[in-house]
Amino acid sequence: MDFENKVALVTGASRGIGRAVAEVFAKGKAKLILTATTNSIDNVAKEISEKYGVEAIGVAGDISKEPDVKDLFKIIMEKFGRLDICVNNAGITKDGLSMRMSVEDFESVINVNLKSAFIVSKEAILLMMREKYGRIVNMSSIVGIRGNVGQANYAASKAGIIGLTKTLASEVAKRNITVNAVAPGFIDTDMTKAVADKAREEFLSLIPMNKAGQPEDIAEAVAFLASDRAKYITGQVLVVDGGLMLK
Ligand SMILES: NC(=O)c1ccc[n+]([C@@H]2O[C@H](COP(=O)([O-])OP(=O)(O)OC[C@H]3O[C@@H](n4cnc5c(N)ncnc54)[C@H](O)[C@@H]3O)[C@@H](O)[C@H]2O)c1
Repeated sequence: MDFENKVALVTGASRGIGRAVAEVFAKGKAKLILTATTNSIDNVAKEISEKYGVEAIGVAGDISKEPDVKDLFKIIMEKFGRLDICVNNAGITKDGLSMRMSVEDFESVINVNLKSAFIVSKEAILLMMREKYGRIVNMSSIVGIRGNVGQANYAASKAGIIGLTKTLASEVAKRNITVNAVAPGFIDTDMTKAVADKAREEFLSLIPMNKAGQPEDIAEAVAFLASDRAKYITGQVLVVDGGLMLK
Protein backbone atom coordinates (compact mmCIF):
# COMPACT_ATOMS: atom_id res chain seq x y z
CA MET A 1 0.00 0.00 0.00
CA ASP A 2 1.18 3.48 -0.82
CA PHE A 3 1.86 5.80 2.13
CA GLU A 4 4.35 8.08 0.39
CA ASN A 5 4.40 11.60 1.93
CA LYS A 6 2.23 10.44 4.83
CA VAL A 7 3.37 10.94 8.43
CA ALA A 8 2.25 8.08 10.69
CA LEU A 9 2.35 7.72 14.47
CA VAL A 10 2.24 4.18 15.90
CA THR A 11 2.10 3.78 19.69
CA GLY A 12 3.50 0.64 21.29
CA ALA A 13 5.68 -0.09 18.27
CA SER A 14 8.69 -1.73 19.95
CA ARG A 15 7.40 -5.25 19.29
CA GLY A 16 4.39 -7.40 18.36
CA ILE A 17 1.48 -5.87 16.47
CA GLY A 18 2.73 -2.27 16.72
CA ARG A 19 6.06 -3.16 15.16
CA ALA A 20 4.34 -5.07 12.34
CA VAL A 21 2.09 -2.02 11.69
CA ALA A 22 5.17 0.23 11.57
CA GLU A 23 6.78 -2.11 9.02
CA VAL A 24 3.73 -2.11 6.71
CA PHE A 25 3.71 1.70 6.73
CA ALA A 26 7.48 1.76 6.15
CA LYS A 27 7.09 -0.57 3.14
CA GLY A 28 4.62 1.98 1.78
CA LYS A 29 7.23 4.75 2.34
CA ALA A 30 5.51 6.60 5.21
CA LYS A 31 7.50 8.77 7.60
CA LEU A 32 7.21 7.28 11.08
CA ILE A 33 7.03 8.29 14.71
CA LEU A 34 7.16 5.20 16.91
CA THR A 35 6.56 5.12 20.65
CA ALA A 36 7.05 2.61 23.47
CA THR A 37 7.76 2.69 27.18
CA THR A 38 11.50 2.03 26.86
CA ASN A 39 14.42 3.53 24.95
CA SER A 40 14.65 0.32 22.90
CA ILE A 41 12.21 2.09 20.55
CA ASP A 42 15.18 4.14 19.24
CA ASN A 43 16.82 0.95 17.92
CA VAL A 44 13.55 -0.26 16.40
CA ALA A 45 13.13 3.09 14.60
CA LYS A 46 16.74 2.90 13.37
CA GLU A 47 16.34 -0.69 12.12
CA ILE A 48 13.12 0.13 10.26
CA SER A 49 14.60 3.31 8.81
CA GLU A 50 17.63 1.43 7.44
CA LYS A 51 15.63 -1.58 6.20
CA TYR A 52 13.03 0.43 4.24
CA GLY A 53 14.90 3.68 3.54
CA VAL A 54 12.35 5.89 5.30
CA GLU A 55 12.56 8.50 8.06
CA ALA A 56 11.62 6.97 11.43
CA ILE A 57 12.05 8.37 14.93
CA GLY A 58 11.52 6.63 18.25
CA VAL A 59 10.06 8.40 21.28
CA ALA A 60 10.07 6.68 24.69
CA GLY A 61 7.42 7.63 27.23
CA ASP A 62 4.20 6.69 28.97
CA ILE A 63 1.32 7.66 26.68
CA SER A 64 -1.20 7.30 29.49
CA LYS A 65 0.33 10.52 30.92
CA GLU A 66 -0.78 13.77 29.27
CA PRO A 67 2.61 15.55 29.68
CA ASP A 68 4.39 12.68 27.87
CA VAL A 69 1.85 12.91 25.02
CA LYS A 70 2.29 16.72 24.81
CA ASP A 71 6.08 16.17 24.53
CA LEU A 72 5.50 13.55 21.83
CA PHE A 73 3.40 15.94 19.76
CA LYS A 74 5.98 18.72 20.18
CA ILE A 75 8.52 16.36 18.61
CA ILE A 76 6.08 15.47 15.81
CA MET A 77 5.55 19.16 15.03
CA GLU A 78 9.26 20.00 15.15
CA LYS A 79 10.29 17.05 13.02
CA PHE A 80 7.44 16.69 10.51
CA GLY A 81 5.02 19.61 11.04
CA ARG A 82 1.97 17.44 10.40
CA LEU A 83 0.31 14.09 11.16
CA ASP A 84 -1.76 12.05 8.71
CA ILE A 85 -2.15 8.68 10.42
CA CYS A 86 -2.43 7.79 14.10
CA VAL A 87 -2.53 4.18 15.32
CA ASN A 88 -3.41 3.84 19.01
CA ASN A 89 -1.95 0.39 19.56
CA ALA A 90 -0.14 0.42 22.93
CA GLY A 91 -1.73 -1.91 25.44
CA ILE A 92 -1.16 -4.03 28.53
CA THR A 93 -2.91 -6.79 30.46
CA LYS A 94 -3.14 -7.35 34.23
CA ASP A 95 -5.40 -10.38 34.44
CA GLY A 96 -7.24 -11.82 37.42
CA LEU A 97 -10.75 -12.74 38.45
CA SER A 98 -12.76 -9.59 39.25
CA MET A 99 -13.28 -10.50 42.90
CA ARG A 100 -9.50 -10.60 43.36
CA MET A 101 -8.53 -7.77 41.00
CA SER A 102 -7.18 -4.68 42.75
CA VAL A 103 -8.58 -1.28 41.86
CA GLU A 104 -5.00 -0.26 40.92
CA ASP A 105 -4.79 -3.08 38.35
CA PHE A 106 -8.20 -2.12 36.97
CA GLU A 107 -7.19 1.53 36.69
CA SER A 108 -3.76 1.02 35.18
CA VAL A 109 -5.14 -1.13 32.34
CA ILE A 110 -7.88 1.42 31.63
CA ASN A 111 -5.28 4.20 31.66
CA VAL A 112 -2.84 2.57 29.25
CA ASN A 113 -5.37 0.95 26.91
CA LEU A 114 -8.18 3.52 26.84
CA LYS A 115 -7.24 6.86 28.40
CA SER A 116 -4.07 7.01 26.29
CA ALA A 117 -6.08 6.57 23.08
CA PHE A 118 -8.25 9.53 24.13
CA ILE A 119 -5.28 11.77 24.99
CA VAL A 120 -3.34 10.87 21.83
CA SER A 121 -6.40 11.16 19.54
CA LYS A 122 -7.20 14.63 20.93
CA GLU A 123 -3.75 15.88 19.96
CA ALA A 124 -3.82 14.04 16.64
CA ILE A 125 -7.18 15.51 15.66
CA LEU A 126 -5.91 19.06 16.27
CA LEU A 127 -3.12 18.49 13.72
CA MET A 128 -5.34 16.57 11.28
CA MET A 129 -7.99 19.32 11.27
CA ARG A 130 -5.37 21.77 9.97
CA GLU A 131 -4.65 19.50 7.00
CA LYS A 132 -8.32 18.52 6.52
CA TYR A 133 -7.13 14.91 6.38
CA GLY A 134 -6.62 12.15 8.88
CA ARG A 135 -6.85 8.45 9.63
CA ILE A 136 -7.09 7.18 13.20
CA VAL A 137 -7.04 3.44 13.89
CA ASN A 138 -7.58 2.22 17.45
CA MET A 139 -6.66 -1.23 18.72
CA SER A 140 -9.61 -2.96 20.35
CA SER A 141 -9.97 -6.73 20.86
CA ILE A 142 -12.64 -9.38 20.49
CA VAL A 143 -12.51 -9.43 24.30
CA GLY A 144 -14.02 -5.92 24.19
CA ILE A 145 -16.98 -7.36 22.26
CA ARG A 146 -17.58 -10.65 24.06
CA GLY A 147 -15.81 -10.26 27.45
CA ASN A 148 -13.40 -12.82 28.88
CA VAL A 149 -13.03 -14.50 32.25
CA GLY A 150 -10.17 -12.91 34.21
CA GLN A 151 -10.01 -9.78 32.06
CA ALA A 152 -12.61 -7.35 33.47
CA ASN A 153 -10.14 -4.46 33.23
CA TYR A 154 -8.90 -5.37 29.75
CA ALA A 155 -12.40 -6.12 28.37
CA ALA A 156 -13.72 -2.82 29.75
CA SER A 157 -10.81 -0.91 28.19
CA LYS A 158 -11.30 -2.57 24.79
CA ALA A 159 -15.10 -2.06 24.86
CA GLY A 160 -14.35 1.57 25.77
CA ILE A 161 -12.13 1.82 22.68
CA ILE A 162 -15.15 0.91 20.54
CA GLY A 163 -17.29 3.64 22.13
CA LEU A 164 -14.44 6.13 21.76
CA THR A 165 -13.93 5.17 18.10
CA LYS A 166 -17.60 5.61 17.19
CA THR A 167 -17.89 8.92 19.03
CA LEU A 168 -14.71 10.43 17.57
CA ALA A 169 -15.76 9.20 14.12
CA SER A 170 -19.05 11.13 14.38
CA GLU A 171 -17.34 14.23 15.74
CA VAL A 172 -14.71 14.56 12.99
CA ALA A 173 -16.39 12.99 9.94
CA LYS A 174 -16.99 16.41 8.33
CA ARG A 175 -13.27 17.19 8.57
CA ASN A 176 -12.24 14.31 6.29
CA ILE A 177 -10.86 12.38 9.26
CA THR A 178 -11.87 8.73 9.65
CA VAL A 179 -11.72 6.84 12.94
CA ASN A 180 -11.96 3.05 12.98
CA ALA A 181 -10.94 0.15 15.21
CA VAL A 182 -9.43 -3.25 14.64
CA ALA A 183 -10.43 -6.07 16.98
CA PRO A 184 -7.83 -8.85 16.89
CA GLY A 185 -8.53 -12.36 18.13
CA PHE A 186 -5.64 -14.46 19.48
CA ILE A 187 -2.36 -13.22 17.99
CA ASP A 188 1.13 -14.64 18.59
CA THR A 189 3.01 -11.87 20.47
CA ASP A 190 4.81 -11.41 23.80
CA MET A 191 1.43 -10.42 25.29
CA THR A 192 -0.13 -13.82 24.52
CA LYS A 193 3.05 -15.73 25.45
CA ALA A 194 2.13 -14.76 29.02
CA VAL A 195 -1.19 -16.66 28.72
CA ALA A 196 -1.12 -20.01 30.57
CA ASP A 197 -0.80 -23.10 28.32
CA LYS A 198 -4.25 -24.39 29.24
CA ALA A 199 -6.01 -21.09 28.42
CA ARG A 200 -4.00 -20.85 25.21
CA GLU A 201 -5.10 -24.34 24.10
CA GLU A 202 -8.70 -23.47 24.90
CA PHE A 203 -8.49 -20.32 22.79
CA LEU A 204 -6.84 -22.13 19.89
CA SER A 205 -9.46 -24.89 19.96
CA LEU A 206 -12.13 -22.21 19.39
CA ILE A 207 -10.51 -20.75 16.26
CA PRO A 208 -12.12 -22.17 13.09
CA MET A 209 -8.89 -21.48 11.14
CA ASN A 210 -7.17 -23.64 13.75
CA LYS A 211 -4.18 -21.39 14.40
CA ALA A 212 -3.23 -18.17 16.15
CA GLY A 213 -2.96 -15.02 14.03
CA GLN A 214 0.35 -13.31 13.29
CA PRO A 215 1.10 -9.60 13.96
CA GLU A 216 1.25 -9.08 10.16
CA ASP A 217 -2.40 -10.23 9.83
CA ILE A 218 -3.44 -7.33 12.06
CA ALA A 219 -1.01 -4.90 10.44
CA GLU A 220 -2.59 -5.46 7.01
CA ALA A 221 -6.06 -4.62 8.39
CA VAL A 222 -4.73 -1.48 10.10
CA ALA A 223 -2.95 -0.41 6.91
CA PHE A 224 -6.14 -0.85 4.88
CA LEU A 225 -8.16 1.35 7.27
CA ALA A 226 -5.33 3.91 7.25
CA SER A 227 -5.13 3.95 3.45
CA ASP A 228 -7.05 5.98 0.90
CA ARG A 229 -8.83 2.78 -0.16
CA ALA A 230 -10.85 3.04 3.08
CA LYS A 231 -11.76 6.71 2.60
CA TYR A 232 -15.53 6.17 3.01
CA ILE A 233 -15.26 3.84 6.03
CA THR A 234 -15.58 5.39 9.49
CA GLY A 235 -16.74 4.37 12.95
CA GLN A 236 -16.30 0.67 12.19
CA VAL A 237 -14.75 -2.23 14.07
CA LEU A 238 -12.92 -4.71 11.85
CA VAL A 239 -12.62 -8.11 13.54
CA VAL A 240 -9.50 -10.07 12.52
CA ASP A 241 -9.66 -13.38 14.37
CA GLY A 242 -9.53 -16.43 12.08
CA GLY A 243 -13.26 -16.87 12.71
CA LEU A 244 -13.09 -17.01 16.53
CA MET A 245 -16.13 -14.76 16.91
CA LEU A 246 -18.20 -17.23 14.88
CA LYS A 247 -18.10 -19.61 17.84
N1 LIG B 1 -1.76 -10.22 21.05
C1 LIG B 1 -3.08 -10.40 20.97
O1 LIG B 1 -3.58 -11.54 20.88
C2 LIG B 1 -4.01 -9.22 20.98
C3 LIG B 1 -5.37 -9.47 20.80
C4 LIG B 1 -6.27 -8.40 20.80
C5 LIG B 1 -5.79 -7.12 20.96
N2 LIG B 1 -4.45 -6.90 21.15
C6 LIG B 1 -4.03 -5.51 21.34
O2 LIG B 1 -3.04 -5.17 20.38
C7 LIG B 1 -2.14 -4.21 20.94
C8 LIG B 1 -0.71 -4.69 20.79
O3 LIG B 1 -0.60 -5.94 21.46
P1 LIG B 1 0.70 -6.86 21.39
O4 LIG B 1 0.23 -8.25 21.57
O5 LIG B 1 1.53 -6.49 20.23
O6 LIG B 1 1.41 -6.39 22.76
P2 LIG B 1 2.93 -6.35 23.22
O7 LIG B 1 2.91 -6.53 24.70
O8 LIG B 1 3.78 -7.28 22.42
O9 LIG B 1 3.36 -4.83 22.88
C9 LIG B 1 2.77 -3.75 23.54
C10 LIG B 1 3.47 -2.46 23.18
O10 LIG B 1 2.82 -1.39 23.91
C11 LIG B 1 3.83 -0.59 24.52
N3 LIG B 1 3.28 0.03 25.74
C12 LIG B 1 2.72 -0.58 26.82
N4 LIG B 1 2.39 0.33 27.74
C13 LIG B 1 2.71 1.56 27.24
C14 LIG B 1 2.62 2.88 27.72
N5 LIG B 1 2.09 3.16 28.91
N6 LIG B 1 3.08 3.89 26.94
C15 LIG B 1 3.62 3.64 25.74
N7 LIG B 1 3.72 2.39 25.22
C16 LIG B 1 3.29 1.37 25.96
C17 LIG B 1 4.97 -1.54 24.81
O11 LIG B 1 6.18 -0.80 24.98
C18 LIG B 1 4.95 -2.40 23.54
O12 LIG B 1 5.65 -1.73 22.51
C19 LIG B 1 -2.59 -3.99 22.38
O13 LIG B 1 -3.45 -2.88 22.47
C20 LIG B 1 -3.36 -5.27 22.69
O14 LIG B 1 -4.30 -5.08 23.70
C21 LIG B 1 -3.56 -7.91 21.16
